[in-house]
Amino acid sequence: MPSWSLPDLTGRTYLITGSNAGLGYFSAEHLVRAGGRVLMTGRNPNRLAAARAALRRRLPDADPDLAETLLLDTSNFGSVRAAAASVRGRGRLDGVLLNAGIVHPPSKRETTPDGQELVFATNVLGHFALAGELLVPLAAGLGRMVWLGSMSTSLWKYDPADPQLVDGYTPWRAYVQSKVATTALGLEADRRLRAAKVPVSSVIAHPGYSTSGRTPGIIGVNEPSRLSRFADNLQAVITQSKEMGALPLVQALAGEGVESGSFWGPKHTTHGPPRLAKPARITRDPEMAARLWDAAEEATGVRWPPQRSSSRR
Ligand SMILES: NC(=O)c1ccc[n+]([C@@H]2O[C@H](COP(=O)([O-])OP(=O)(O)OC[C@H]3O[C@@H](n4cnc5c(N)ncnc54)[C@H](OP(=O)(O)O)[C@@H]3O)[C@@H](O)[C@H]2O)c1
Repeated sequence: MPSWSLPDLTGRTYLITGSNAGLGYFSAEHLVRAGGRVLMTGRNPNRLAAARAALRRRLPDADPDLAETLLLDTSNFGSVRAAAASVRGRGRLDGVLLNAGIVHPPSKRETTPDGQELVFATNVLGHFALAGELLVPLAAGLGRMVWLGSMSTSLWKYDPADPQLVDGYTPWRAYVQSKVATTALGLEADRRLRAAKVPVSSVIAHPGYSTSGRTPGIIGVNEPSRLSRFADNLQAVITQSKEMGALPLVQALAGEGVESGSFWGPKHTTHGPPRLAKPARITRDPEMAARLWDAAEEATGVRWPPQRSSSRR
């Protein structure tokens, strides 16, 4: 680990989507190690329980109550609403890490029971709805929402003009456009939250190139095959573990000196400790972001932030 650390997070509470594996799991470890309380969320109760057990095993000195679990499937708006209602009932929230994602999309276009393209629903729409549904507890904690971007948005310039990918679906296109969308929405959320004077920050982070094969083996959390360990180690110069890749994410979520609207990534682009970075040009287009915002509100039925009424007496 580099000479980088989180502040003492005692008394703070964070929610992470997709925290039973990968970057989400290691983000939970980093936060608990710093004394924070973490709501580890995921779509499968057994995988969540295994992850919480692993975290407790690996951090034997931490208070075991700092890691809790909650079911939350980001591809299912009903599940998002139910989880958000339960979180609102608990009081203030210091941050939400919008991490869950389909990283290897299906070869053919699939839709959710809500009728949305699966990758867009899972990576983008569920998180848009969750962030909106959690504004009240986040505002109470002067908290942050952190969106997950990706280097892939600089390599491929898929404009989400047709976010549902009714025509021209490919797995890679679905993935890259979802990451263009999360980054653009994260920047747009910053603009809208500021304009509405809601005391919540919107920040974006990307983990560089973080692979399972370079990550410690943990039963029930990270069990790569020998072949993927071999293949991932061949790329060792440009890759890092997910434990390292989680650092820019938790820096954006709970680190010091983080401004709303900022974008964090690894120092050496694909790997290294956290530093401020610059989002890809395509993600900085405010017209495209506004179009996406409208589409996300329409698809989810969640409209945020609340408009300030100018005619209030
Ligand atoms: N790894 C990288 O180099 C990299 C680079 C750029 C961006 N990212 C982003 O980082 C995030 C995490 O990636 P990762 O590498 O950690 O991937 P990962 O190891 O495949 O983990 C993905 C996590 O998301 C969860 N998930 C998937 N669909 C879900 C759903 N419908 N509801 C709730 N949780 C769901 C998975 O849960 P299950 O176990 O239930 O499937 C798992 O916990 C993604 O947003 C990805 O786009 C990663």
